[in-house]
Amino acid sequence: MVRFNQHYRKLQSSYLFSDIARRIEAFESRNPGRSIIRLGIGDVTRPLPPACISAFHSAIDEMGSEKHFRGYGPEQGYGFLREAIARNDYQALGAEVSADEIFVSDGAKCDTGNFQELLPADVRVAVPDPVYPVYVDTNVMAGRTGRFVDGRYEGLVYLASTRENDYVPAPPDEGVDVIYLCFPNNPTGATATRGQLAEWVEYAHRRKALILFDAAYEAFIRDPEIPHSIYEIEGAREVAVEFRSFSKTAGFTGTRCAFTVVPKSLVVTDDSGQAHSLHALWTRRHTTKFNGVAYPVQRAAEAVYSEEGKQQVRALTDDYLRNAELIRTVMTRLGFHSVGGENSPYIWVQVGGDSWDFFDRMLGEAAVVCTPGSGFGPCGGGYIRISAFNRYERVVEAMERIEAMVR
Ligand code: MLT
Repeated sequence: MVRFNQHYRKLQSSYLFSDIARRIEAFESRNPGRSIIRLGIGDVTRPLPPACISAFHSAIDEMGSEKHFRGYGPEQGYGFLREAIARNDYQALGAEVSADEIFVSDGAKCDTGNFQELLPADVRVAVPDPVYPVYVDTNVMAGRTGRFVDGRYEGLVYLASTRENDYVPAPPDEGVDVIYLCFPNNPTGATATRGQLAEWVEYAHRRKALILFDAAYEAFIRDPEIPHSIYEIEGAREVAVEFRSFSKTAGFTGTRCAFTVVPKSLVVTDDSGQAHSLHALWTRRHTTKFNGVAYPVQRAAEAVYSEEGKQQVRALTDDYLRNAELIRTVMTRLGFHSVGGENSPYIWVQVGGDSWDFFDRMLGEAAVVCTPGSGFGPCGGGYIRISAFNRYERVVEAMERIEAMVR
């Protein structure tokens, strides 16, 4: 018999969203025909923007022509997309990121999960609590943790994000080597100010740590004071990698396109203390294990940066933000404390009690799906996450149902 990686035995039996999907399936089979409103997993409902569709079509036509057909593309992504990203997402903000520091991929979930592969097993890792489960589970798989005890893995440093710190943890007193941060946050929807991010960058310089910054939800930021990228903070190029995605920005959850920025100024050391470029290491990994995102998908992503693409993406994210505002207003009216939903598609609601009980009640009585906060970590106990990704009429109906249930 072949043995398997024993670290997998420490994982919880299933991934949070698979667990939720099973409960919904069981509910559906018990209640055939009942209309369920899904405000659980952050999956978009609006179709791709017309600018993306038109670029997608043209690129598919190219793939069907002798003259324009393309085979393998560059693993890191085509120059046209990497340049559009560098120009629009970074240089326009005054952040120094060049096209060759961008690695196009098929998802921020994969990139945030895979990046830890470059690090040795004994690095000390800090994660927020509550946390997007991918950061934790992939480190468990790699053997960086001990057992799962009371909702947390031994060996990880958890940064509590609670009502007391406005859901933005400060750097810890102790030294850690790697820190996962996500702003606007999944699951809380909280955002970090420039000053708060500057504290983290300063910490990373002082402690020689690496920040893995997940900015998958930056397109929902409306407040001009909130930074969209960690590279808007001075000194971040030496200490931070940034992950972004077209999934929530432009409806690419089913189309798959994302990117990771690894600045050339990021240096890590080997066991003898000799410096190496993290960019070179990620290039080696990416080109070995990945063959690039499909050409038509990259053309569709490029169209996000055209004039009409920008307007359409803005309209699309505005739509979800309208849902978010409604959710937050109703939950506040019902007497619940909540955060998020202003510069983020997620609303984090303190419902008290056990969050799985509230999840079950919402599903059973209102046929509305949310995500139980405790699925993201012990600090999520007593909270639920409501996602704004649905059609406005469905969100209106969901809020009516929740209101009737609570009253
Ligand atoms: C979520 O609901 O947290 C997200 O959809 C997960 C993801 O983007 O992978």
